[in-house]
Amino acid sequence: MAALTKHIHTHFFQPLFASFNFQSRSHRSPTRISPTLSFRNSDSHFIEALKLVDEFDPEIPLEKAVTPPSSWYTDPSFFALELDRVFHRGWQAVGYVEQLKDPHDFFTGRLGNVEYVVCKDNNKKVRAFHNVCRHHASLLASGCGKKSCFVCPYHGWTYGLDGGLLKATRINGIQNFDVNDFGLVPLPVATWGPFVLLNMDEKLSSELVVDEDKVAYEWLGSCADLLSLNGVDASLSFVCRREYTIECNWKVFCDNYLDGGYHVPYAHKGLASNLKLESYSTEIFEAVSIQSCKGGGESKGDDYGRLGPEALYAFVYPNFMINRYFLDTSTYLALWLFMFRDVFLLMFVSSFSGLYNRYGPWMDTNLVLPLGPQKCLVVFDYFLETPFKNDESFIQQSLEDSESVQIEDIILCEGVQKGLESPAYKFGRYAPSVENAMHHFHRLLHLNLTK
Ligand code: FES
Ligand SMILES: [Fe+2]
Repeated sequence: MAALTKHIHTHFFQPLFASFNFQSRSHRSPTRISPTLSFRNSDSHFIEALKLVDEFDPEIPLEKAVTPPSSWYTDPSFFALELDRVFHRGWQAVGYVEQLKDPHDFFTGRLGNVEYVVCKDNNKKVRAFHNVCRHHASLLASGCGKKSCFVCPYHGWTYGLDGGLLKATRINGIQNFDVNDFGLVPLPVATWGPFVLLNMDEKLSSELVVDEDKVAYEWLGSCADLLSLNGVDASLSFVCRREYTIECNWKVFCDNYLDGGYHVPYAHKGLASNLKLESYSTEIFEAVSIQSCKGGGESKGDDYGRLGPEALYAFVYPNFMINRYFLDTSTYLALWLFMFRDVFLLMFVSSFSGLYNRYGPWMDTNLVLPLGPQKCLVVFDYFLETPFKNDESFIQQSLEDSESVQIEDIILCEGVQKGLESPAYKFGRYAPSVENAMHHFHRLLHLNLTK
């Protein structure tokens, strides 16, 4: 528990957070935040929810522990506490760097009640803001794409990609109005490998100076290097996004992911035949757990499945999963020889030895977004090693295989949610040999909610 506590302290340590044309201003300070914006709900706001938190004892060892009570998965006040303490503090994955490849690229999103827009400004700096117009609170941008400025769809106030207010329409006669007070409200933003991270903690300072090494440690702890050395990096190309709205609490989906492959032989019979389930192993880090599994099938020529001989599943607390698939060296070489005779040598030379020295072509990430006590949205992003991007039939087959596994999991998760709401169920038990990552997740959550 000491190591866990130590990490949590670091993980949650954060520094905060008439047409009139202003374009000619030279002294504009777009990151200035109104002092009234910083507040945080206190414990007294969450008395009932905190009682529920205490119904789980994180100190009881796995073998004797009971799971958190069903109220953690159903109660609206508990959900509000989670949004405040889990999702609106600490670093959260929100997108990937390829979405911001060029200046003017942007994307938007929502986490709890925080609406955000992330963009690359004219100077190639990645910036993030609350996606809320400072006039009458209209949402400003929607979706993703390219914009040289953000024009509010309501009354046309216009903001630069640095957040500064460039134009306020028809404000002749306005008094006590300082343009510098009405820029977009900034959010701390950072990148790690292929991912874009935001911090929505209202207590962060408005200086927004982010030390990315520190962010990597706060987000991934001691396994940041392990992941980047094992193929989780920005060289992968984005293929597509699939989104699933699921009628279950966000933690039901996480728990399903964290059972050490327990459900695979029963619920994913197709997938099970490609895995050596007895080889499933779990490593626990500070706020990350990594499950890995060897594949059972041999790949031959172009007849290869989505899973190679090894798969690595990293869960980054609280809600982000990184799945990387590996091929053994001989299969990898055969693939490269088959597809890219001319470049295989170069790629082979660029591979290196280590714990996991075999790269498969795929990575996918799953971001679990809470939408309500009984509803979440899971965003799947698929990435591929760039040279494989043109193999349409391989991509199609892989995505179809993935989709059928997701559908199997969605049915399970929605069934579990119904069970959690039944008067017959209060809490459950862990299978100690396989569900240690799930227990770790629940302990992290308890600590996070009581801090
Ligand atoms: S709400 Fe944006 S310009 Fe009025
Ligand atoms: Fe599953």
